[in-house]
Amino acid sequence: MDVTSFWLAGRPATGDETFSVTNPYDGRVVGEVAVPTEAQVEEAVAAADAVRAQAAALPVHVRAEALAHVSRRLAERSEEIARLITAENGKPLLWARAEVNRAVSVFRFAAEEARRWSPTTQRLDTDPGGAGRLAYVSRVPKGPVLGIAPFNFPLNLTAHKVAPAIAVGAPIVVKPAPATPLSALVLGEILAETDLPAGMVSVLPVPNDRAPALVDDPRLPVVSFTGSVPVGWAIRERAPRKHVTLELGGNAAAVVLADADLDWAATRIGLFSNYQAGQSCIAVQRVYVDRGVYEAFVPKLVEAVGSLVTGDPWDGATQVGPLVSTDAAERVESWVNEAVAAGAKVLTGGTRDGAVYAPTVLADVPADAKVLREEVFGPVLVVQPVDGVDEAFAQVNDSSFGLQAGVFTRSLDVAFRAHRELNVGGVIIGDVPSYRADQMPYGGVKDSGVGREGLHSAMSDYTEEKVMVLTGIDL
Ligand code: SIN
Repeated sequence: MDVTSFWLAGRPATGDETFSVTNPYDGRVVGEVAVPTEAQVEEAVAAADAVRAQAAALPVHVRAEALAHVSRRLAERSEEIARLITAENGKPLLWARAEVNRAVSVFRFAAEEARRWSPTTQRLDTDPGGAGRLAYVSRVPKGPVLGIAPFNFPLNLTAHKVAPAIAVGAPIVVKPAPATPLSALVLGEILAETDLPAGMVSVLPVPNDRAPALVDDPRLPVVSFTGSVPVGWAIRERAPRKHVTLELGGNAAAVVLADADLDWAATRIGLFSNYQAGQSCIAVQRVYVDRGVYEAFVPKLVEAVGSLVTGDPWDGATQVGPLVSTDAAERVESWVNEAVAAGAKVLTGGTRDGAVYAPTVLADVPADAKVLREEVFGPVLVVQPVDGVDEAFAQVNDSSFGLQAGVFTRSLDVAFRAHRELNVGGVIIGDVPSYRADQMPYGGVKDSGVGREGLHSAMSDYTEEKVMVLTGIDL
């Protein structure tokens, strides 16, 4: 099998070693990837540092055209890249295709946002001392970004780190997840086709135990990490003087109130507790249903979950494929078994075949069970009755996480109340917490992280305001 090169300051390179990427469904080796040496990592970081002033000064049309080029090329190569995502990650083609489409949009939005990204002015003649003065306020990149991407959206969550960096003129060094580097490496290839200066983008598939050296490197003052809760917070503690954005886990809740469309709610919750085998930080994990409709709702939910098409990710009809590894599926199985031993009832699912865990619904789950308290990151849903909005919202907030929540209601009053009272980064009314439009602010509170992605938000995050005061202006 050919060795896949990595991208060192915009050019392909190989190191002394390689590692294999395997498909979680059938264990087939789907790629052999070159590992950068220490010296090559040093070269990439030095190149990012060296190019920072040139990158920041790039005219917006150059940045925007590079971003638009990536968007177009991802679209042109969409089927090939979707198949690569399915190969490396095991997610069904259905979701892999959706992921590529999203990445196409992310780069397109970034190109558009780059063109809108303008300095502002502020009058200073608000007091006598400021007469004739005007503040000109621009946002300048904080410096080269270290982007650490996860396995669950190996292309699109890499896109969410790279596209805003280019849009603001910041170099970026990307470390893809070791299990799923292939689609990020194609992104590196497409970026190398642009007119961006060499050094602006490197994609380095280094193993996780070499990430701390990058986190410590003062030439990368911004770290944008998506991944697990302990690793994320450890990065922040390790680099207190850096700007660290953390997109971490969740145990997202959906609330189904008495006025909801129960069929719609059941279908959406059933699908989005299991999409990508539940391996999304905003997959539905907890469902709180008004007691008045609980008996009517649960059979609809069980039917929706039980009828999902499960199995071979290469079959275009499959909705739920394998987890990222058999180990991951075994962990999910053990958490479900633990809940069942403590009294939980399995309404559907509860079985495992290799890396595939069957879409599962649990009821009567004890409050301290891991499937409620922790992030399952698997196709498991816990359903519970609640007495009205107060209890539903209290249950949603009874979590160490706070990423997104969904509330199925037709009431605008309840919608605004949810927005005020739910302690999360985003509230989705009339749909699942799993809804994400790539241009909107996305991120969490509590253990779920700090900072926001979404093009405009990430561009703000990667930059800081810089003021110039003009004196003697005739306003
Ligand atoms: C995540 O798992 O945090 C990303 C979810 C998404 O982009 O849809």
